[in-house]
Amino acid sequence: MTNAIAVKNAAISIQDLVLELPTPNGDVRVLDGVSFDIAPGEIVGIVGESGSGKSMTALTLMRLLPPGANIVSGQLDFHGVDLSALSPRELRKIRGRRIGMIFQDPMTTLDPVVQVGAQIDEAYRIHHPKASRAEARLRTIEMLELVGVPDAARRAKQYPHQWSGGMRQRAVIAMALVNDPEVVIADEPTTALDATIQAQVLDVLVKVRDELGVAIALITHDLGLIAQFASRAVVMYAGRVLEVAGTHELFDDSRHPYTAALISSRPGSTPRGEDLVTIPGRPPAMDELPIGCPFAPRCVSPFKSEKCDKERPSLEASADGRLSACHYRNERHEVMR
Ligand SMILES: Nc1ncnc2c1ncn2[C@@H]1O[C@H](COP(=O)(O)OP(=O)(O)OP(=O)(O)O)[C@@H](O)[C@H]1O
Ligand SMILES: [Mg+2]
Repeated sequence: MTNAIAVKNAAISIQDLVLELPTPNGDVRVLDGVSFDIAPGEIVGIVGESGSGKSMTALTLMRLLPPGANIVSGQLDFHGVDLSALSPRELRKIRGRRIGMIFQDPMTTLDPVVQVGAQIDEAYRIHHPKASRAEARLRTIEMLELVGVPDAARRAKQYPHQWSGGMRQRAVIAMALVNDPEVVIADEPTTALDATIQAQVLDVLVKVRDELGVAIALITHDLGLIAQFASRAVVMYAGRVLEVAGTHELFDDSRHPYTAALISSRPGSTPRGEDLVTIPGRPPAMDELPIGCPFAPRCVSPFKSEKCDKERPSLEASADGRLSACHYRNERHEVMR
């Protein structure tokens, strides 16, 4: 059984992260006690409905938070180095070099008026100021070939609009990899793509992991992608981690009703012709969280009790070592299919 609790010598280790963001109604706690690890060479899926805090977790790691954001507490380690203690200068040496980031929409990363190759060259030269233009271009072509861009030397001279969506996303991945990072954070890297291209691009990420040993955080709202591409999963809800488990365990034996509900509501989880099971209600507003379990108002588990409305369960190990923030973490939570 995969040990979901702690990864020794983690590439990334997040402990009890609490983040507040300013809003017109005052500061709102959008992450509360987020903890998980990513081992070197591991693909960890981070999944949850919209607004659950997936992107804020990624942006905290990269320290790319919106103005006024406040990391109230928590430990963010990168290979044992506390990222929150680094100066902006030290952080710049890690961000984009040792930790790469891939965003959902390639056009937020690519400049439409600059040749694709030149943008990747530039990403390399920022961190390798002594490299010549020719060296940078060789590196760019090597990376484009790695991510499966055909005829890379010629295509590097084209502009983003001359590339298809799938090819642009490959370029963004090449850019994230050009400095040989140990960790890549991919925030919904394929949401803008159709299913076939999506699978091809994610295959590229798996290849990158296999060939370069890069650890990958794959952020998605699609549990199907997690099942296919990640070895472990972190399930987030209302700024909290509700379950962490190996992918097989998560699907075979969910220990949180929210995970079970997410699995049940996956497109394709019901036989053709039957209605898709949906999770009733919506996630709570972050400034109006219930006192008890944040999922309790939507929970349809037969185990649900008064305790769920009164007492907030923390992320803890079950009797058999599974991590769940449910009072009934020792129970198997049935998936409706
Ligand atoms: N700039 C901001 N200022 C204030 N609150 C914000 C800001 N950006 C996001 N939030 C809030 O932070 C919480 C977490 O948002 P986050 O973007 O991390 O969710 P997510 O899981 O990435 O969702 P999605 O699947 O839609 O990308 C949400 O409640 C959101 O409304
Ligand atoms: Mg997001």
